[in-house]
Amino acid sequence: MSRTYVVTGSASGIGRATALLLAERGEHVIGVDLSGADIEVDLSTDEGRRTLVEEATRRSGGRVDGVIAVAGSTAEVPATVGVNFFGMRMTLEGLRPLLEESDAPRAVGVTSIMSLSPNDAELVRILTAGDESAALVRASELVAEGRAELIYPSTKQALAQWIRSSAATEAWAGRGIPLNAVAPGVVATPMTNATLATAEGRALLHELAPMPLNGPAAPPGSPARLLAWLAGEECTHLCGQVIFVDGGSDVLARGASTW
Ligand SMILES: NC(=O)c1ccc[n+]([C@@H]2O[C@H](COP(=O)([O-])OP(=O)(O)OC[C@H]3O[C@@H](n4cnc5c(N)ncnc54)[C@H](O)[C@@H]3O)[C@@H](O)[C@H]2O)c1
Repeated sequence: MSRTYVVTGSASGIGRATALLLAERGEHVIGVDLSGADIEVDLSTDEGRRTLVEEATRRSGGRVDGVIAVAGSTAEVPATVGVNFFGMRMTLEGLRPLLEESDAPRAVGVTSIMSLSPNDAELVRILTAGDESAALVRASELVAEGRAELIYPSTKQALAQWIRSSAATEAWAGRGIPLNAVAPGVVATPMTNATLATAEGRALLHELAPMPLNGPAAPPGSPARLLAWLAGEECTHLCGQVIFVDGGSDVLARGASTW
């Protein structure tokens, strides 16, 4: 009996690799992306998020077994808070009623090794408070101040915090839904390929995320296999974990400490 999965960001990179892997295993996959997907929506908008829930309900018949929220962007613009934090959170929350119809529901988001990089504490505070209008204003201020590079790590730090603080609550653990995250290091996808193509770019990525295990860029199949496991039936007791699949970057950054 196949399971039904909703995978956002399914048209490219890690989301595409995850959707293909699940489909190869005979699972029913509903792909979501701006274009080139079963459900074509902009997850940085309320309308896109509403359409996602309506269309996923229609296409799944009202029951989804796994939600894998991958869609994200590194663009140094305010709308990045819309897709990376609110888009991912609302994908997971909006589809939770469909997960509740499953015998083995699972939910997974994607953060990043960059969640450990310097961020804007004010933007992280606003994001975790759930105020999208204020987050867009704060992100615009960062752009105006020439500090737009802080937007991406702020969104990923806030998402990791949201997953940690939500997973053990009644809404998730209380309803039998493991909620976890994968934090990739550098992965060779359209998001990074241009940077990986030059020596200067590779040096920059190495500085941001050195990967002593198996090299400077993982193929997208590496996080995809972990995402598929976290969204699969075997994942029964993992709760609120942010798992770094990063060739050792997190170990180098945080040492022996787990916090
Ligand atoms: N590639 C890396 O090195 C890396 C490292 C850490 C984390 N990540 C995270 O992994 C996830 C996937 O990244 P990727 O490397 O596969 O990138 P990618 O650019 O190949 O794929 C991202 C997908 O998200 C979709 N998307 C972007 N904005 C959207 C929106 N507003 N609405 C709907 N879909 C939207 C894009 O169209 C694209 O198909 C992202 O959340 C990213 O932040 C990537």
